[in-house]
Amino acid sequence: MPERFVSPAETVVGSGAVDSVGDRMADRGSRALVLATSGVFDRFGQRVRDSLTDAGIETAVFDEVRPDPTVANVEAAHELYREADCDCLVTLGGGSPIDTGKAVGVVAANGGEIREYATDRAGYEGVPEQIPPLCAVNTTAGTGSEATRSIVITDETTSTKFLVVSTACVPTVAVEDPELVRSLPPSHTAFTGIDALTHAVEAFVSVHAWEMSDTLARSAIDRIVRWLPVAWANGDHIEAREQTLVGQFQAGQAFTNSSVALVHGMARPFGAQLHVPHGLANAILLPYVMEFSVQGAPERYAEIARRLGAATESTPTREAAQAAGPAVRELCTDVSLYGYLDEFGTVPERAAYAEVVPEMAADAIASGSPDNNPRKPSHEEVADLYMTVYDDVLEAYQ
Ligand SMILES: [Fe+2]
Repeated sequence: MPERFVSPAETVVGSGAVDSVGDRMADRGSRALVLATSGVFDRFGQRVRDSLTDAGIETAVFDEVRPDPTVANVEAAHELYREADCDCLVTLGGGSPIDTGKAVGVVAANGGEIREYATDRAGYEGVPEQIPPLCAVNTTAGTGSEATRSIVITDETTSTKFLVVSTACVPTVAVEDPELVRSLPPSHTAFTGIDALTHAVEAFVSVHAWEMSDTLARSAIDRIVRWLPVAWANGDHIEAREQTLVGQFQAGQAFTNSSVALVHGMARPFGAQLHVPHGLANAILLPYVMEFSVQGAPERYAEIARRLGAATESTPTREAAQAAGPAVRELCTDVSLYGYLDEFGTVPERAAYAEVVPEMAADAIASGSPDNNPRKPSHEEVADLYMTVYDDVLEAYQ
């Protein structure tokens, strides 16, 4: 079967890229809804508006995007989009505003409610009409949502997240300005950076990997491994910020054209139990899932280990492959990831955790992501992985 590659039509990278939003959108719309969280809008909103105004584009502002946006959030933003008679979207921020913007676009172009387009109801590629032109100005370095077909929204009636995945949702323009991520604190630099590394690793080992996603995954891994520790240690290092931004963008392109796999399947219920950010949940699971999966794609894991400097060309494949998980664990330690568990997570007692593990394992398998993994896990194996992670990592932070 032929493969299809999807991507934003344009990507602008570099210091000052934020000022090009108006020019990029000038031929694409006349009235833009700008979406952001209030904090990010306060910092960069006026600059985006000025750029749009200079290009002759009127603006309406929705600055009430919340982290983990809900259906109600999408509806309120869509209401404003309609009232202000908008014809294009500009998001300012990370995954939450980008996903809210994409969801507003889905409803604006297709009618109905966003929940109807979720993968559990409409399937993959279940959005018929292309969303209006959307420019995503990124202010974090992790989700890669500005490059992807995916939307994650929380259904507040059930407190669960649902996914919309469709080519019709890919943003038109992505803006990656390293100056905008400069003030990201080390903790969030680490979380988002390891989320991006997880995207690249999972896209690379996925059973859906192919030439185009491989090229991007390789490049993303190289950039993140080389530059994430520098960006973490010195947030003002503009080259490190730019390289990690490009890396996470490529990682987003890689997984949207391949897939994520077992880590992402396990991270959702795991993160919900521990109340930890998505990137930290991934970071805790990633080395263990890599070690579990080695037999399914030894050459792939061996290559990852070589890219991480944990093996050489002459290291035998089997030995190199087994070095990949520990090398990722070392990178996570380098950026102090596990140390953030105290501040950003709540580790339950072992018995309470063990009680919910069967349900977490069932949720992980039901997500479908483990089917993309090079080694397909059973329910027991996923449950064992959750317990191993508790005993090896979490116990110390209880
Ligand atoms: Fe992710």
